[in-house]
Amino acid sequence: MKPSTFTVAVAALSTGVQGATYAVPGTAPAGAALLDPAPVGVSFEFFAFPSYFTNVTGTTQCLQNLQALTGTWPPIRIGGTTQDRADYDPSTSAYVVYSVASAVDAPAILTFGPSFMSLAAKYPGTVVVGLNRGHDNVSNTIAAAKVARSQMQNLLAIELGNEPEYYLGASQPVAVNAGSWTPAVDAASQNNWDILVGSALQAPLIIQAGNSNSAPPTWGAAELIATENATVKSYVHNYAHHNYPGGTVQSLMSHSGIVSDMTMFIPDVAAAQGTGKQYVLGETNSVSGGGAATVSPTFGAGLWTMDYALRASLLNISRTYFHHGTIGACQYCFWGRYDMGAPYYGAYAAAATMAGGSYISALDSGSTAFAVYVVYNSAKTPIKALLYNSNYFNGTGSRTSESFVLTGLAGNTLKAKRLTAVSALSRVDQGQNPSFGGQYFQNVTCSVGGTEAFESAAVSGGQATFSVKASEALLVYLQ
Ligand SMILES: *[C@@H]1O[C@H](CO)[C@@H](O)[C@H](O)[C@H]1NC(C)=O
Ligand SMILES: *[C@@H]1O[C@H](CO)[C@@H](O)[C@H](O)[C@H]1NC(C)=O
Ligand SMILES: *[C@@H]1O[C@H](CO)[C@@H](O)[C@H](O)[C@H]1NC(C)=O
Ligand SMILES: *[C@@H]1O[C@H](CO)[C@@H](O)[C@H](O)[C@H]1NC(C)=O
Ligand SMILES: *[C@@H]1O[C@H](CO)[C@@H](O)[C@H](O)[C@H]1NC(C)=O
Ligand SMILES: *[C@@H]1O[C@H](CO)[C@@H](O)[C@H](O)[C@H]1NC(C)=O
Repeated sequence: MKPSTFTVAVAALSTGVQGATYAVPGTAPAGAALLDPAPVGVSFEFFAFPSYFTNVTGTTQCLQNLQALTGTWPPIRIGGTTQDRADYDPSTSAYVVYSVASAVDAPAILTFGPSFMSLAAKYPGTVVVGLNRGHDNVSNTIAAAKVARSQMQNLLAIELGNEPEYYLGASQPVAVNAGSWTPAVDAASQNNWDILVGSALQAPLIIQAGNSNSAPPTWGAAELIATENATVKSYVHNYAHHNYPGGTVQSLMSHSGIVSDMTMFIPDVAAAQGTGKQYVLGETNSVSGGGAATVSPTFGAGLWTMDYALRASLLNISRTYFHHGTIGACQYCFWGRYDMGAPYYGAYAAAATMAGGSYISALDSGSTAFAVYVVYNSAKTPIKALLYNSNYFNGTGSRTSESFVLTGLAGNTLKAKRLTAVSALSRVDQGQNPSFGGQYFQNVTCSVGGTEAFESAAVSGGQATFSVKASEALLVYLQ
């Protein structure tokens, strides 16, 4: 990003605004969560991954913008429903081979060649590769895993199957052949495959296990871990779950709603931590099935993306991989072939908030519309605070404002960057581009446009007041 060239004063308080006071701790509290170097990740649908990286102009720049914030390329995961439709074909030179009736269809069956893994190997960040368990051909999956392992220095983990709870409904052979398909039967299958694939690769800590979408505890990590012996665990790198909360823009972006939605992961995260392994959201986004046209492309969904990524990190969820599906049929995508998506602005603001941080805590109760996250450096000194007013403003009527009073602050003046748009319903493709610190992202290329603008706030007696409108967020730099 370009250096700051001007600052503007934080909007003065108007009468009648609500307000609450939050004491910023001088040091990270004991229960603060440890931050991954790049907690905001991107998931690519298996069959579409080569197209994203060879035939969509903005992909590398959109990822690089996040790298520029954190110094670490965002982690990516390649997988999804089509990983369980894909068979490895060592003889094809193509990345993927399939045919579809329409360009916006996902293939029902496909093959992929060794070049799929050499393309993934070029990505400068870590990669999780999702392979097939549905077809019940472990030798085919081992052959693919061996190519991934030998070609990819950046391979973080391999998944053995995606959302197995849906296998029987999809007539996947592994479920049909098992005779019955329950969480226990799936766990036995996963554990067996973890050992078969892990031992064939002679690689400990290589499997991203779990990968279900149904609300835990059923199909969750705690349930799976209880079935694993030490041999199985020796091959598991980490546990993953999927989540698509859905709802309206208003319910999706609600801070108390996000807190409530994510409470279901707490026991599973604790179970993973009990094994000494990480827990991630391996595939997630606003609404399942590529998103909802009236919800997923909006700025409100972008605010959800921001709060959800921060809340996940607060809950010790190491990484959150936001899914990107069929190109041209992806309502929640951060970017496409043509226009940017408003959700990218939320992902960018979340990455900016956590960049350079080692710990995160929250100062809000979780039961109101207002969120206050504090990020600390490795010395546990607070470096940033993210203030979020999740009240819904749809563009009609007057836009309310919340004054966040922060105490315990150092210095005389603090600078801040605002994440804003005309309303929660703003969409890039409808000409209402959001902005973050006065900047935006160009369509097609994803390059940063506009001049970086910081607001400034006066600190008096260690206290400052920040005004944040409904459906807006403010990133305050505490140093
Ligand atoms: C996150 O992990 C830390 C230990 O690293 C722990 O103190 C804290 O309670 C955990 N947070 C949650 C919400 O479980
Ligand atoms: C790239 O995308 C364009 C536009 O959708 C499409 O016509 C073309 O076939 C794609 N090329 C490849 C190699 O996938
Ligand atoms: C299973 O995979 C192996 C190795 O790729 C292949 O030779 C075999 O034909 C596959 N079996 C079936 C039933 O597809
Ligand atoms: C661990 O469990 C697997 C099945 O998940 C089983 O095949 C293996 O024998 C068990 N190993 C030990 C040492 O009990
Ligand atoms: C916005 O909300 C108001 C009620 O507060 C409603 O009357 C109006 O139809 C809504 N507008 C849109 C675009 O949803
Ligand atoms: C992106 O394109 C849309 C039209 O599809 C336009 O309304 C919007 O203003 C463009 N955004 C930028 C930042 O140029």
